[in-house]
Amino acid sequence: MMRVLGIESSCDETAAAVVEDGRTVRSDVVASQHEVHARYGGVVPELASRAHIRNVVPVVEAALERAGVALGDIDGIAVTNAPGLVGALLVGLQTAKAMAWVTGKPLVGVHHLEGHLAAVFLEADPPPMPHLGLIVSGGHTSLVRVNGHADVVELGATRDDAAGEAFDKGAKLLGLGYPGGVVIDRLARSGDATAIAFPRAMMASEHGADFSFSGLKTSLLHHVRAHGVPDGQALADLCASYQAAIVEVLVRKTRRAARREGLGHVQVCGGVAANSALRAAMVAAGAEDDFRVYVPPPARCTDNAAMIAAAGYHRLVRGDRDGPALDAVPSAALRRRA
Ligand code: KG4
Ligand code: ZN
Repeated sequence: MMRVLGIESSCDETAAAVVEDGRTVRSDVVASQHEVHARYGGVVPELASRAHIRNVVPVVEAALERAGVALGDIDGIAVTNAPGLVGALLVGLQTAKAMAWVTGKPLVGVHHLEGHLAAVFLEADPPPMPHLGLIVSGGHTSLVRVNGHADVVELGATRDDAAGEAFDKGAKLLGLGYPGGVVIDRLARSGDATAIAFPRAMMASEHGADFSFSGLKTSLLHHVRAHGVPDGQALADLCASYQAAIVEVLVRKTRRAARREGLGHVQVCGGVAANSALRAAMVAAGAEDDFRVYVPPPARCTDNAAMIAAAGYHRLVRGDRDGPALDAVPSAALRRRA
């Protein structure tokens, strides 16, 4: 049995978890900084670093305690080292390096998106390899072919804003707070998604699996300038229409990629995978096109360390090891299909 301690601090969640054999979660602790950043409408990097410094030791201690293990019972340490806010990444990374050094346990750096893709493998019925992955978070929007745990090829990605960013910036414009995805999701449930026609960008097949969401945000800005921010039913309609523009593009491009790649299994991960409309639309598309959809539970869509421990486990069993020279890398693209 291999027991891995995972640590995640790439953005605004400080997280630690203990996972056995990349499957069994013994503990999963997340300290969110949403309250720290809410008044700014987005993550303030310096405040994120400071909050990680305050939280990292208590969060790691809580993860070990809840798992009922001592640091000496850990067989390996996995830490997110890329991509993310560099000052935030460094906090988790230095903590992991220090613990690996004092315990003599193996250390492995994990790409944050490889972590998101590993989350669904903590569920009872994970997708087989190869499968298609749609990674949709606050910082990333990518369609990937997952050939194996450490063999991910990017088919397309956003050229500008990420899907989560579109949700968050939209919510900020509407004065709905940060992070806004979950608020838009909730308000949209009672709204009419056909009320306002927002643009669906880069849908033509010549754009392949790439995305663009910055025009949508601008379109919402123009709408708000012309009509103001509504309330009640009109606000619900606006949220539902805006959300539908994001969801429709994500689903259409995923369908096309699944068909082109000949893949019958599709996973959706990252914070936006918690979106109820996206989950429902993807499952409906899968039923029509004959692919099976796998989505982690909402708490494992947003940032957590159980997914990092799971991804780290798969690297450790392959023999991957990192030393004290392991660096934090703020922007680390996935390998792109040539
Ligand atoms: O994966 P994540 O926790 O952090 C990054 O790696 O970026 O994703 C956070 C993003 C935020 O943009 C947040 O608004 C979005 O996920 N999100 C949602 C929902 N829950 C979180 N977006 C839409 N609907 C949701 N229910
Ligand atoms: Zn993430």
